[in-house]
Amino acid sequence: SAVAPDAKNLRVKLVLLGDSGVGKSCIVLRFVRGQFDPTSKVTVGASFLSQTIALQDSTTVKFEIWDTAGQERYAALAPLYYRGAAVAVVVYDITSVDSFTKAQYWVKELQKHGSPDIVLALVGNKADLQENREVSVQDGLEYAEKNGMFFIETSAKTADNINQLFEEIAKRLP
Ligand code: GTP
Ligand code: MG
Repeated sequence: SAVAPDAKNLRVKLVLLGDSGVGKSCIVLRFVRGQFDPTSKVTVGASFLSQTIALQDSTTVKFEIWDTAGQERYAALAPLYYRGAAVAVVVYDITSVDSFTKAQYWVKELQKHGSPDIVLALVGNKADLQENREVSVQDGLEYAEKNGMFFIETSAKTADNINQLFEEIAKRLP
């Protein structure tokens, strides 16, 4: 077989956090199955999926994805999922300033209680809904830069930037 001599196979625990309804489960469904579900149901507890990607240098990265439930009643469970995670993806909805405020809460919690070397990504989802935008690109970018996070806007509906999100995370792994 033609496995490159410098090929590496990485396994990465990744957790998604953010308010209920921002599109965490849809982002995962788009990334893992290439599908979008307009009638996506709220997540109960958390769900687990995995997906492997290949990078240009023939490194493969297997993402073990914990998609958490955003509803307030599940907030106390979050540490079970972000503890030991190498990557945390904090998601808000660009049409909801409240969800951006909630994202900042999760970033602070991860800075306090996550792994010290955790890779943090800030995602503004539902970028297809430009006409309803409440959070500017500038506000998302500035907050992310201040907190040493990677920032991207995505749409699980159109698939815009979904693969890029995971590829950029893979590039930033220690
Ligand atoms: P919880 O499981 O309760 O934490 O919510 P969630 O963040 O997993 O939200 P979910 O992925 O279930 O999506 C909530 C709603 O937003 C669904 O009706 C989706 O169809 C819709 N949605 C998700 N992503 C997008 C997007 O990129 N664009 C648009 N227009 N709608 C989206
Ligand atoms: Mg969900």
